[in-house]
Amino acid sequence: MPSRVIAIDGPAGAGKSTTARAVAEQLGMCHLDSGALYRALTLADLDAEDELSGQQIVGLARSLPVGLRLTELGFLPEVAGVDVSNEVRSPRVTARVSEVSAIPEVRDWVNQALREAATLHPNGVVVDGRDIGTVVFPEASLKVFLTAAPEERARRRLLQEGKPIDPANVAEILEEQEVRDAADSSRSVAPLAAAADAIVIDTSAMTFEAQVNRIAQEARKAFS
Ligand code: CDP
Repeated sequence: MPSRVIAIDGPAGAGKSTTARAVAEQLGMCHLDSGALYRALTLADLDAEDELSGQQIVGLARSLPVGLRLTELGFLPEVAGVDVSNEVRSPRVTARVSEVSAIPEVRDWVNQALREAATLHPNGVVVDGRDIGTVVFPEASLKVFLTAAPEERARRRLLQEGKPIDPANVAEILEEQEVRDAADSSRSVAPLAAAADAIVIDTSAMTFEAQVNRIAQEARKAFS
């Protein structure tokens, strides 16, 4: 494990990825988005002609390959050498990713890939996901569990996607979030959970800047 790891976990739409990226930037570290790897694997699975077992999905991940490549912009998800940063955010991937990420062989493969990726950046990584502080990096210097009220998370997701914040859109996002949070929290392997030693931050009433500064401040304390 690299000397510095900050783990940020939390439910869908809590702002983990954007927060992790900003914290990494402030501290000279690199953002590592575990969800992007699950999404890239899901994309590869969706594009396969047959229904694949966990072992076959891992086989596909190795042969294509699927992975995260460290660039000047940070880690980019790739499938067969192609940057799939945009494609992994598509609704068809979002609708299926919780199912693929509940497969134990898939999780083992992703965890290994994340641990390897984390050694690549000299200043360490800010990793976001669902089980980063509990399973992937239990010895992380700082663990944060980021959460917010469901309506606020839905509102932020719409803002991020540049869509109007009207009742119909909010209801649609709320439903998608609820389904995914329920699946992620109830699965038997590595469910979404706060580590016992995580700092829980409810960002419902916090500005983005305040939440980033709070985590960076905790990190400086943890690293000193
Ligand atoms: O950005 P958003 O919160 O919508 O999700 P994400 O971080 O891109 O993760 C997408 C999905 O991957 C989650 O809903 C989980 O099913 C799965 N995931 C996981 O199981 N464990 C992780 N460490 C990260 C993501």
